Amino acid sequence: MTKIIAHRGSAGTHPENTMAAFREAERVGADGIELDVHLTKDGKLAVIHDETVDRTTNGSGHVKDFSLTELQRLDAGSSFSKQFTGERIPELADVLSWVKEKNLLVNIELKNVFYLEYPGLEEKVLAEVERFNVKGQTIISSFNHVGLNKVRELDQDIDIAILYSAKLYQPWQYAGSLGATSIHPHFYSITEDMIRTSERKGIPTRPYTINEVPLMEKLIKAGCTAIITDFPARAIEVRKRLNR
Ligand code: G3P
Ligand code: MG
Repeated sequence: MTKIIAHRGSAGTHPENTMAAFREAERVGADGIELDVHLTKDGKLAVIHDETVDRTTNGSGHVKDFSLTELQRLDAGSSFSKQFTGERIPELADVLSWVKEKNLLVNIELKNVFYLEYPGLEEKVLAEVERFNVKGQTIISSFNHVGLNKVRELDQDIDIAILYSAKLYQPWQYAGSLGATSIHPHFYSITEDMIRTSERKGIPTRPYTINEVPLMEKLIKAGCTAIITDFPARAIEVRKRLNR
């Protein structure tokens, strides 16, 4: 059965990467949540998508220039809807301590991409996964494949997924070459044939970000291990209708 992973929580209906969005994902019956992590000025793991706080909070500036305490003074709910005023930017530990008690996958996306170095990000994330004892339900993903290879050097058996939006040739082979165990392609980057081959070769495929019903149907029918969506409730309905 194709699993449904809620992108940044249920980001289509709730403020992304907040506890409200993660709780909603669980409430509607998602199989997992996806979240993004950046490092703060004081070396803490903040759950937020952009490298700046401008789009999703009432603040302005780079995440790396805030301490965690400063970040958590910002309102991360009202820019989505007034109804969510007071939602905060979670620390990774907040989400892991919550997810630990749930039957939910957690996909942690490392945002050390482009010019963001975030030294020690991989070690810090793995230490938190270890501290909350959630390795069995965790997937680490990133567009930074050098960083993912470092994760593999640090941890021999955690599930690691390459994120990509190019048309990679035999992505299952490439993933294996850097120690990744699964692939998270943009849906433009794959075909149904590629999905079937990858799954047959034992490399789970979890495409992102799948929000439209026809695409959900197509990918569920193709046998993806999971799809990543802003609308988990919608995807669950589609899966139910397809009897998968
Ligand atoms: O992990 C899937 C997806 O989240 C990757 O892109 O930009 O939404 O983090 P982005
Ligand atoms: Mg992401």
